[in-house]
This record gives sequence, C-alpha cells and structure tokens, in this order.
Amino acid sequence: MSVSDLFEPLTLSHGRPMRNRFMMAPLTNQQSESDGRASVYDQEWIGQLARGGYGLVQTCAATVEPGGIAFTRQLGIHDDDQLPGLTQMADAVRDGGGLSAVQLHHAGHRARPELGGIPAPASSTSVPGVTALTTEEVERIRDSFIAAAVRAERAGIDGVAVHGAFGWILSEFMSPMLNDRTDKYGGSTENRARMTFEVMEGIRNATGPDFQIGWRLSVERYGLELEELREITAEVFNRELIDYLDLALWDTTQVVREGTHAGQTMLSVFTSLDRKQARLGAAGKIMTARRAGELLDEGCDFVVIGRAGILQRDFPEKVRENPLYESPTLPVTAQYLRDGGLSERFINYLQGWQTLVY
Ligand SMILES: Cc1cc2nc3c(=O)[nH]c(=O)nc-3n(C[C@H](O)[C@H](O)[C@H](O)COP(=O)(O)O)c2cc1C
Repeated sequence: MSVSDLFEPLTLSHGRPMRNRFMMAPLTNQQSESDGRASVYDQEWIGQLARGGYGLVQTCAATVEPGGIAFTRQLGIHDDDQLPGLTQMADAVRDGGGLSAVQLHHAGHRARPELGGIPAPASSTSVPGVTALTTEEVERIRDSFIAAAVRAERAGIDGVAVHGAFGWILSEFMSPMLNDRTDKYGGSTENRARMTFEVMEGIRNATGPDFQIGWRLSVERYGLELEELREITAEVFNRELIDYLDLALWDTTQVVREGTHAGQTMLSVFTSLDRKQARLGAAGKIMTARRAGELLDEGCDFVVIGRAGILQRDFPEKVRENPLYESPTLPVTAQYLRDGGLSERFINYLQGWQTLVY
C-alpha cells in the first residue's frame, strides 16, 4: 500500500464512514472553563482540526463526573450546561467533513482533590487514607460513562472514545497490581474487565444505531499485562462491542521484550487478532507521511496522530499535498506554537512536556 491509500474512506460498524484513515488523537489541552464548559480556545483548536482534513477528530479527555477530574481546566461532559460548547464542537467537525468523538475519562485513584476531584481507587491500598470504591460506587461511575455518551449524542457528536488507557479508571480496574477487589469487579481477568465491558454495552444500549464507540487501550506500565489485554481485546472484538480500537503506544515500532510475544511488535500482538467488523489504529510517533502509510501495511486500518497534529493542525492535508511530508522536529519554541494559533493556556501545558517545547 502507499501513502495515497491513507485517503481511502473507511466504513465503521455504525454511522457515517471516515472519509480517510487519519484520526486525531485525544490531546489534553487545559484550556476549558473552570467548570468544564468548552472555552473559545477549545473552539479555536477544534476549529483548526476540523479544517485539517482528519477522518475523525477525538476531543481531549473529558470528565464523566466532576469528581473524576485529573487536569486543570479539563473539558467536561458531565453536565447539561456543557452541551452548547460540545454542540459547537460537533458542528465544526461535521462542517469540516470529519467525524467527531469525545474521549470519556475518569481519573480513578488519580483524581485530584485540589481541582474538586474525589479519588476513586479500585483498591484500598492505592491512595493513603482512601478506601476502595464500593460496588455501588463502581456502578455509579459506570453509569456516568453511559450518561456522558448519551450527552455526547445529544450534542450531535458522532461517538465516544472510551478511555481505557494510562492507568485511568478502566485501565486501573484491569490491572492486577492496582485492583485487589474481591467483588465482581476484581479477581479474575473477566471481573477486572467487567467495568469496561459494562460501559461499552451500556453505551450501545443507551444510544442510537448510528452512534460510534471507540476504545483507547494502552499496554504499558500500571501493572498491565499484555497477554491479558490481548485476551480482553479478543473478547471485545468477538462480542462486536466497538467500532474501533485506538492503541495508545508511545512508539508504533515498539517491540515486546518478554513473555509469549517477545520479539514481536506490540502492534502485531493486536493486529493479529480477528477484529471482525471493528477497525484498528495506533498512535505513537507517527511524524511522517511514510510512517503513516507503512502502518496500513502493518495491519492498521487508520493512524492516530498526536504530536505531529499539534505542530501542524492540518497534518492530513500536508500529507495529501506531499507524500514525502515530514513533521517539524521536536522540540519547538513556544513562539512556533503561538504562530500556529495555539492558546497561551495550551502552550503553558505543553511546556510541561520537555520533549515538546524548549
Ligand atoms: C500534550 C498531550 C496531551 C495528551 N492528552 C491525552 C488525552 O487527553 N488522552 C489520551 O488518551 N492521551 C493523551 N495523550 C497521548 C496522545 O493521545 C498520543 O497517544 C501520544 O501522544 C502518542 O502519539 P504521538 O507520538 O503522535 O504524539 C496526550 C499526549 C500529549 C503529547
């Protein structure tokens, strides 16, 4: 396959197809209002992405409950007051020709009290002085994910991307290291994945036939176990619960170091599964047109663009214009980002990523 294949449309199990194989990664940008409503800066950022040629644009991680907050000025989708801003985002992406998805997030044990967060650990040992969630509390948070998806649908957003990565609540529950529960949400692999399955099934039952469900999964750190995650993913595919899997790798070329899959790429561990109707894409250092094209050969249906999309908001258009396109080299100056139209709030946050901004 070649770079031009990235511009072939991609049907999804529900709703409209992606017009091409480019998906914008969820990127926290800390520029919303303090109560989680989208700000003018959120709209400018999404507006740029909407015009950037993506097949699907994911928003940053958005809180499904006020207590699940992890970031200052995090976008929220837990309150109807947030609907007008979300609707404006949905309209912008649709007008630009793309699909939209809100990333549904709850920080779990890492919720930050200084921002109004209420740490919600799977185990009593994760946060000193905080006892594990009761079964009823787990079910309440599950229902908040589902209610947030219904809110996204009401805002005209095409779907949601369920955040199951980086040790946040759904990933935390899957981790044998972070989850020592003895109720139906702990113990066996099936029990530790139960919250994720119930969120997916609940969203599917509560939303219409065109509503799209994505799932973001990471495989490293937080005590996560590759073999187990592969098994859970196989079951998600078997039960046809999602439209797409977004594999959050920090480098798509990464090779597994130990265990059954040692020597294989992390990506191939998942592309080798029978995904049925679901689509699969990956994020991780996709900085050139060539690498994006190669990933189709490596079994991806689409590519997920993060940092390269911060540097040039219209990465897909750049690739269309030039099949040899290479993203500017990191790090860049704050002025470079300012010239690109990013807000001071977003730039301040990015300055915390040493590899991104000088
Ligand atoms: C500034 C920044 C913010 C991010 N915010 C989120 C987020 O809100 N949700 C998420 O799942 N991943 C988040 N990530 C991870 C990215 O979505 C992506 O998976 C990662 O950056 C690797 O892709 P890349 O190499 O193309 O940047 C963030 C990454 C960066 C650099």
